[in-house]
Amino acid sequence: MKIVLIGYMGSGKSTIGKLLSKKLNINFIDLDEYIESKLNMSVLEIFSSKGEIFFRKKEHEYVQELMLEKKSFILSTGGGTPCYSNNLGVISEKTSNVFYLKVSIPGLVDRLSKEKEHRPVIKNIPDEDLPEFIGKHLFERNNFYLQSTNIISCDGKTAEEITEEIASGLA
Ligand code: S3P
Repeated sequence: MKIVLIGYMGSGKSTIGKLLSKKLNINFIDLDEYIESKLNMSVLEIFSSKGEIFFRKKEHEYVQELMLEKKSFILSTGGGTPCYSNNLGVISEKTSNVFYLKVSIPGLVDRLSKEKEHRPVIKNIPDEDLPEFIGKHLFERNNFYLQSTNIISCDGKTAEEITEEIASGLA
């Protein structure tokens, strides 16, 4: 079984992915970490030295590689993954267990203002501009996120509750 978590930066994909992995005893893969280990560079370094287009090409290559694997896994994607290169199509062809972790704009602003530093897309956005940036960005990305087969509203729920909801919604 392959379970794929998608959602905006800071929506909790990695946290939930790890909890789900423990609960279901299925291997957990964080796509950003997978890319970092393959290229031996942090995502921040890849963006700054090779550029975003290079990152998106590699991201696509590794999504394809992973989705072709026979093994089961829980994959937490990067916030942009489903929005480029038909990655969502590649993922959806192999599993119907795609879960969008939906968090409100204020919820995302609250989480991301505390952890911008390792995220190249928002690193240089001043805190006061974050709500507008995230609002616009999410509006664009929702075209992709909302195509997910399962949408989990995360506001006001604990990580354990979200994990439980995903586990009981598996196809
Ligand atoms: C990105 C999100 C990041 C990472 C890269 C680009 C994005 O992942 O893939 O910095 O475009 O939203 P997280 O969602 O895990 O922060």
